[in-house]
Amino acid sequence: MAHRLPTVVIDNGTGYTKMGYSGNNDPAFIIPTAIATREAPGASAGGTVGKAGGAASGGNVASKRGIDDLDYFIGDEAVANGKTYAVSSPIRHGQVDNWDLMEKFHQACLFQYLRCEPEDHAFLLTEPPLNAPENREFTAEIFFESFGVKGLYIAVQAVLALAASWTSGKGEQTLTGTVIDSGDGVTHVIPVAEGYVIGSSIKHVPIAGRDITYFVQQLLRERENSIPPEESLEVAKRIKEVYSYVCPDIVKEFRKYEMEGDKWIKRADFVHSVTKKPYSVDVGFERFMAPEIFFNPEIASSDFLTPLPDLVDQVIQSCPIDVRRGLYKNIVLSGGSTMFKDFSKRLQRDIKRMVDFRLKASEVASQINLKTEEQIKARQIDVNVISHKKQRYAVWFGGSLLADTPEFFSYCHTKAQYEEYGPSIARYNKVFGSIL
Ligand SMILES: Nc1ncnc2c1ncn2[C@@H]1O[C@H](COP(=O)(O)OP(=O)(O)OP(=O)(O)O)[C@@H](O)[C@H]1O
Ligand SMILES: [Mg+2]
Repeated sequence: MAHRLPTVVIDNGTGYTKMGYSGNNDPAFIIPTAIATREAPGASAGGTVGKAGGAASGGNVASKRGIDDLDYFIGDEAVANGKTYAVSSPIRHGQVDNWDLMEKFHQACLFQYLRCEPEDHAFLLTEPPLNAPENREFTAEIFFESFGVKGLYIAVQAVLALAASWTSGKGEQTLTGTVIDSGDGVTHVIPVAEGYVIGSSIKHVPIAGRDITYFVQQLLRERENSIPPEESLEVAKRIKEVYSYVCPDIVKEFRKYEMEGDKWIKRADFVHSVTKKPYSVDVGFERFMAPEIFFNPEIASSDFLTPLPDLVDQVIQSCPIDVRRGLYKNIVLSGGSTMFKDFSKRLQRDIKRMVDFRLKASEVASQINLKTEEQIKARQIDVNVISHKKQRYAVWFGGSLLADTPEFFSYCHTKAQYEEYGPSIARYNKVFGSIL
């Protein structure tokens, strides 16, 4: 085939779906992963997925469905129709929770947003770490049978995030590193060695964007009474996204707000979404307290008490010794909840402290006496936390990069393969590292 259309790249997150075409710098659409249907969520049984036989292959999706099947909204429209429809999210904590709704959601993404002919494109989709292989089969059924796509590749989000960090210009183009992916529903720490995820060492933190928003909402509720209750979640989210930053030391930071309030406390203006009445809110120590949850989880009174830097260190320490250096050297950030100002700085400082402390302790314990500069250097461990411009949509951007390489097509599952072997081909996707 002489001319190939770009690959469609879709990253379905718990909070937001990022979709667009390979080779582009940014997704064409970013919409909430929400769907509004007439019936209660989960009421319709099964759908076409997961049933023996599945749907008829190929064909136009809309034509083989009843008209009431099309009576639903996705994205911002779903949120806006929340009063008359049942709104739900087909993805929970990164994993697909309702396949019937997920298929409907995909359908609207393809035909209503991207307006593409799925038969003409290959698709790159993403999955969270430790996704069950059956989920890949369900996805393959939807894409090959309902949409009749040309090719399909399901990539691990963390590996795409590593590829995205190549744009930082700070490291070499490696698929070895530790990814901290923090979105709306979950935060994962994922070690990757040469494109392979070290599954047994992955850890997750039950704190992500949504929890931080709730925390800010709670802090504001205690202090600010100018916020209309029905707007409080949106207000908290905007304050979090626009005004928050990571500080080096909360005790000192509190003192700054007490001593020089004028300098640190901001006034944020809002307009009521229904009445259109303006109102404003003082933004105080929420600014640094919001992301502090990652570093001192106990402030949000959760059951989870391990600070993120400690968790990253534990993850790397649980990996085989010969990859640990590479994992400390390339700690890569990905996802909306890593966007706080100075997040990478604090992480790097805290991780480095732990690593250096352990090195010192082992030198003392084994009575090593390092004399020359070279000896000292050889033992030191480089800790780098990489922040870059594409971090917000790193998973999508990494997908856009990799799907744009000529090799990508040799790694896709094709329609012909699907027809010959069935959904089980999607259980396994070749690792990108091997083509670079
Ligand atoms: N500048 C910012 N500062 C802090 N948080 C932000 C910023 N921009 C976006 N966020 C938060 O990032 C979250 C969305 O991130 P992302 O799109 O990576 O999540 P997702 O992929 O939908 O979810 P997940 O990866 O958990 O399945 C939201 O909670 C949003 O409020
Ligand atoms: Mg995500």
